Amino acid sequence: MKTELEPKILRFADGTEVKNAEDFKKRRAEMLDILAREEYGYMPPVMGETRLKFIGEPEYICAGMALLRRAEVSFDTPKGEFSFPVKLMTPDDGEKHPCFLFNNFQDLTYHHYLPIEEIIAHQYSVALIYYNDITSDNNDMSDKLAGMYDRADDGTGYGKITLWAFAMSRLLDRLGDCPGFDAENVASIGHSRLGKTSLWCGANDERIKLVISNDSGCGGASSERIKHKGAEKISDMAVKFPFWFCENRSKYIDKPDEMPFDQHFLLACAAPRYLSVGSAEKDTWADPYSEQLSCFNASPAWEIQGFCGYTGKEEPAEIGESFDGGRISYHIRRGTHFLSRTDWLNYMKVFDNVIGR
Ligand code: GCU
Repeated sequence: MKTELEPKILRFADGTEVKNAEDFKKRRAEMLDILAREEYGYMPPVMGETRLKFIGEPEYICAGMALLRRAEVSFDTPKGEFSFPVKLMTPDDGEKHPCFLFNNFQDLTYHHYLPIEEIIAHQYSVALIYYNDITSDNNDMSDKLAGMYDRADDGTGYGKITLWAFAMSRLLDRLGDCPGFDAENVASIGHSRLGKTSLWCGANDERIKLVISNDSGCGGASSERIKHKGAEKISDMAVKFPFWFCENRSKYIDKPDEMPFDQHFLLACAAPRYLSVGSAEKDTWADPYSEQLSCFNASPAWEIQGFCGYTGKEEPAEIGESFDGGRISYHIRRGTHFLSRTDWLNYMKVFDNVIGR
């Protein structure tokens, strides 16, 4: 069974070896550039300072144990100011807490992907973005943030994932101003297409301490070169969701061996920070074993810098197994495609270890 992925993390694109941590910094920049050019599209430029304005008074949530603050994040673009609303939820104890930077499919405080009471009870804060407030999940490249820049038309222009990820970083610019948020201890998180987004945000933004991918699948944690039965391919996505990526990605339909990258690059760009990848047993579309193997193949990025990366198996993990002995953790739970309470409990356990709780 094939388990090794090309191209190798520890070879520059010209074939020379990445020999040490200093070389890896250049390799990381090279991988980020390849991913932007060939897969997601380049991030828009950051123009000046990001601003944060609180809206109204804080409200009690979670049986009065937590506070919800609403705010608006804004920044300049070539076509004027862009603003989006966010929700900031934190235990009501006057302390600063490590936090999840969560991009979700709804702006609801209580949502099936967000067990907020449980997260608050574990002493974490949550900063919530609703992805549609950034730009619509369709091919309309004039909607909201998508329309605020002159998008490159050479195949490298941003896809929607890049814009959703960019917005997460802009909220992070001001997270330190939010009462109850410890901006030094931030985990990015999202499910599925927003798991892809969390990975791309965390790959680029070194302020994120823990990068989380939940069932991110194709274009996220699972590779193009290693596919198992029933897994999604670039060709499937090119039909339904081409707008998540830059146009260059479609060059690789049915030609994975020609790709100058694979998804282990995306994971490796989080090194030497922390990475947690979660899969679900019945989520064949996202290809759990391929997600696991991307963790395995990304691991040299940590090792060359003197850290332990992936400590799990090379053969498929059993349902319910989790590997968290190094800076790359992986778990697979029973069930289907979902961001479940079980997943959150796993990520909180990993986060607890990261911050030494
Ligand atoms: C579709 C798509 C996946 C994506 C998922 C989601 O199934 O093919 O790539 O991850 O939607 O975001 O829910």
